[in-house]
Amino acid sequence: MTAAAGRAAVIAGIGSYLPPQLVTNEDLTARLDTSDEWIRTRTGISTRHVVSPGMATSDLAVEAGRRALKSADESQVDAVVLATTTPDRPCPATAPDVAARLGLGGVAAFDVSAVCSGFLYALATGAGLIAAGTADRVLLIAADAFTTIIDPQDRSTAVIFADGAGAVVLRAGNADEPGALGPVVLGSDGELSDLIEVPAGGSRQRSSGREPEPGDEYFKMRGRDIYRHAVERMTSASQQAVAAAGWTLEDVDRFAAHQANARILAAVAERLGIPAERQLSNIERVGNTGVASIPVLLSESAADGSLAAGQRVLLTAFGGGLAWGAATVVWPQLRT
Ligand code: UT7
Repeated sequence: MTAAAGRAAVIAGIGSYLPPQLVTNEDLTARLDTSDEWIRTRTGISTRHVVSPGMATSDLAVEAGRRALKSADESQVDAVVLATTTPDRPCPATAPDVAARLGLGGVAAFDVSAVCSGFLYALATGAGLIAAGTADRVLLIAADAFTTIIDPQDRSTAVIFADGAGAVVLRAGNADEPGALGPVVLGSDGELSDLIEVPAGGSRQRSSGREPEPGDEYFKMRGRDIYRHAVERMTSASQQAVAAAGWTLEDVDRFAAHQANARILAAVAERLGIPAERQLSNIERVGNTGVASIPVLLSESAADGSLAAGQRVLLTAFGGGLAWGAATVVWPQLRT
């Protein structure tokens, strides 16, 4: 075995941050043609946290990153990987700014863009940096100020999406120790890239010479199609990740899926045969926070005891791209 080959990425710390401003279903029904009953029965969401005016993705990321570093008792890492759908600016990446504000000096820092699957793509990237020997410690942050790209008048998305950030510190370790990341399964289908998109602001629209259509700077989603693909892809990716780890689905103690919609989560868990008491969920209180949803869920669950050291955890996500993923980990003892 070479120095790099076989090095596992081990979760050594975790943290999350939700902006203080709350939006309730009642706040939404006051300005949109919707109802508390529709939102709760179709999505499972009652409240969500949103950024205040002037707050950006990096502000969320810095706070979650600070908390994860504290949890890991680390003041320095070798790389910062930021998964986000909503960078502070189209250029440059947001990660170097976050690293600088965390006082991490001149470390490698870059963004990963895979919409709601970004945390799993970033986990694979961080694990790859460690396996290759490029880094011994990686701060991996997933942060979205998702509501900044949501059309406040679009009732089909405004009721679902929310803002937040979660982070983990990965360190080099052994595959058989608690916290070691199992094989990460990733996939994409760009044939269906228009099911979720922000049509304006990219090179395609800018080079066309056409002014963007009104509303094209906002996130658009073909909800019913996404729903169907989300259930299929998260189910199959989960099955693959569990098999790759040498587990069976009965071995899974905790299921931590991207908090897209409570009905999607229930459908995936049912197909996998994972009972309700093994499913972690906070969507009712925090909504769909995009890339942040899995690390926020893990962080909150570890803090409130619904996720405990030694439990076998299955993670899965799905989102625009289309892109999806799944991974396994035996939960470590962490300071939360
Ligand atoms: O995180 C990234 C991936 N995103 C997701 O996973 C989200 C996936 N999709 C969904 O969660 C669901 O498709 C939605 C929650 C977006 C919509 O739920 P649905 O049960 O699939 O509803 P639908 O899109 O089939 O729409 C049913 C009806 C429509 O009216 P018509 O055309 O039947 O007259 C919508 O206009 O519900 C209407 N509708 C609403 N009604 C009241 C859509 N949004 C709302 C709303 N309040 N907020």
